[in-house]
Amino acid sequence: MNQQIEQIVDELSGKKGALLPILHAIKDSLGCIPPAAVPIIAKKLNLSRAEVHGVISFYHDFRTEPAGENVVQICRAEACQAMGARELQSHAEAALGIGLGETTADGNITLDPVYCLGNCACSPSIAINQKVYARVDAKRFDELMSDLNGN
Ligand code: FES
Repeated sequence: MNQQIEQIVDELSGKKGALLPILHAIKDSLGCIPPAAVPIIAKKLNLSRAEVHGVISFYHDFRTEPAGENVVQICRAEACQAMGARELQSHAEAALGIGLGETTADGNITLDPVYCLGNCACSPSIAINQKVYARVDAKRFDELMSDLNGN
């Protein structure tokens, strides 16, 4: 894995503003940015580890562990918040037993925040594996999760 990371970093480090392209390339290739990538990137780009880590944690797109089989995103932007997204988030966390950014122990579902799915008129919205679902309440959420669990 480190060899793969080093290869990506070597290939892209000459680019202007190389950090983001490197992070995207590692994510595309490994499915996440493993912690081992941070010192490799920092050394090559002459940045501190804290700087690299700061960028990784700033962008919600970058995760440090591979996602579960299914990625469920709950919209936390304004229109959805006004229509009960906070309650939906609490319900989702309790129902799945995980917080945002976490994956169920069986590796089936990762729960992530998202900031607007472009479906504000029908909020609250969630996306499951990139497919958007509108006006999701607790009952609908449970139905959708039960489909993912094969029930
Ligand atoms: S605010 Fe949630 S879809 Fe736009």
